[in-house]
Amino acid sequence: MKNIKIAPSILSADFSKMGQEVADITANGADYIHLDVMDGNFVPNFSFGQKLIKEIRPYSKAVFDTHLMILNPWKYIEEFAKAGSDIITIHKEACGERLLDTVKAVKSLGVKAGVVINPDTPVDAIKDVIDEIDLLLLMSVFPGFGGQKFIEYVLPKIEQASALIKSTGRNIDLEVDGGITLENVKAVKDAGANVIVAGSTVFNCPDRAKVIKELREI
Ligand code: DX5
Ligand code: ZN
Repeated sequence: MKNIKIAPSILSADFSKMGQEVADITANGADYIHLDVMDGNFVPNFSFGQKLIKEIRPYSKAVFDTHLMILNPWKYIEEFAKAGSDIITIHKEACGERLLDTVKAVKSLGVKAGVVINPDTPVDAIKDVIDEIDLLLLMSVFPGFGGQKFIEYVLPKIEQASALIKSTGRNIDLEVDGGITLENVKAVKDAGANVIVAGSTVFNCPDRAKVIKELREI
């Protein structure tokens, strides 16, 4: 099994002191910092943009894992790369036929490229780009808000995605995002995920080091 990486989502952090929040979760064991960017169009909510990412970048050496929940992502990838993203992940549902070109554009910026699909999009929808990507993200909630309930029917999709990744022989992260708790994290890992996003589970816990360690080791 690949090493498990924990990616706290700062959507559930205290926005009034985001630099400190990011430093704190890094010191407490976060491998990736999951950055949920929302545009009020692709999803029915706003979060933050490239300016916040740029300003918190000096507070952490962890991998900056930018999840773009925005329309027309190709217009903005350069700014998110410049802000300090290590990985930029774009939605199949926002790119349609432009997915492969946008993945290539992300890579040309010297950043790792991820692709993400919603719970109701089949794994088959990203088959054409699997040979180009560094990370595949499966949503286990419909994107837009933290603190939602994990959708169980995503578990077989994780197994399917894991098999697809194995068939490439390449080292591609399989990340799962939404509603992950200490109760369901084992099932997510057993299905084949190696990057675990957790927003409310990490930030609502007073002992962040403990919860990050448990998410990794359970
Ligand atoms: C949902 C976001 C997730 C979410 C995770 O739109 O992409 O990253 O904030 O938060 P929890 O872990 O609370 O579901
Ligand atoms: Zn996310």
